[in-house]
Amino acid sequence: MLIIQVCVGSSCFLRGSKIIIAEIEKLIAELQLEDKVLLKGCFCHDKCTGGVTVMVGEKLFTGIAPKDIEELFGQEILPIIKGAAECL
Ligand code: FES
Repeated sequence: MLIIQVCVGSSCFLRGSKIIIAEIEKLIAELQLEDKVLLKGCFCHDKCTGGVTVMVGEKLFTGIAPKDIEELFGQEILPIIKGAAECL
């Protein structure tokens, strides 16, 4: 199970973490990944500049905007899920 954490600290919240969570939820549902991805909120990572902080597994992404989510999903999240599936 891949854990994705979206910061809901005050700075990230003001920069769109609520929209980002909704976008990720939508992609998880569209791609039927509910049993492979766990989406959680988290608090400040002290990386508050320029956008929302998103943690994918152990990897931290900063400065994420809602428009970046599809790219992040395609380039970072799906390869991890596919890689994990190939190991089974
Ligand atoms: S509020 Fe999100 S990293 Fe600080």
